[in-house]
Amino acid sequence: IEELRIRASLKALDYLVSLCRDGCILGLGTGSTVRFFINTLLDKGYSYILKKSIVIVSSIDTALYLLNMGIENIESGLPRDSIDLYIDSADEVDYRRYMIKGGGGAMLREKILTMLSHRKIFIVDENKLSPTIGTKKPVPIEIEPFSYPLIKKYLNDKGYKYEIRYAKNRYGPELTDNGNMIIDVYTGPLNNPRDFITEIELIPGVVTTGIFEPLNNSIIIVGKQNTIEVI
Ligand code: A5P
Repeated sequence: IEELRIRASLKALDYLVSLCRDGCILGLGTGSTVRFFINTLLDKGYSYILKKSIVIVSSIDTALYLLNMGIENIESGLPRDSIDLYIDSADEVDYRRYMIKGGGGAMLREKILTMLSHRKIFIVDENKLSPTIGTKKPVPIEIEPFSYPLIKKYLNDKGYKYEIRYAKNRYGPELTDNGNMIIDVYTGPLNNPRDFITEIELIPGVVTTGIFEPLNNSIIIVGKQNTIEVI
């Protein structure tokens, strides 16, 4: 898997170099693939691109990672309203370009950054490709903690299977950078993801779901055993 991600990262790097050679406003997502991408970029000697750019991150996690790598020109506060290029990964993607994100709990900021970005690149390995999103992964839902009993009741009444994301080594839920909780809902394949989004987002306290609808000016780079596919 590492090799597939690195290969796909190299392809994403080509795009970054051609679009942002002299620096740009660059958005970066969260997670292990993004860290692979950052490592690949640094290994190949392109740290100057990051240093010449304004780097906007979707999480404290990515901010800390970049800081540890010596990249200090990071913005993790209120984002710019016009980002040139956004690079991230996803948990599950399909050929319609629907995606499930939020395995790292950062989907709210990721969704905001994608919508503020002119171009978007998502890097995945082929294990994340599925015929229809929802087949392999649950859909994370970010909720304001006070709404938890209401949302739990709703999901129970509707017969949804779900899990609350608990923090490791302490009692209580894992909290996002926004101070919210995450519930992973096992929807099964989502032929009409919009129906689920509309249903769930109507409940007071639901902040967003991890479903990303197909985005303009976006590509998904899939690292496969023998090739790289761009969707
Ligand atoms: C972070 O919340 C997510 O949206 C990530 O993009 C997604 O979980 C992929 O993470 P990995 O690269 O660690 O698989």
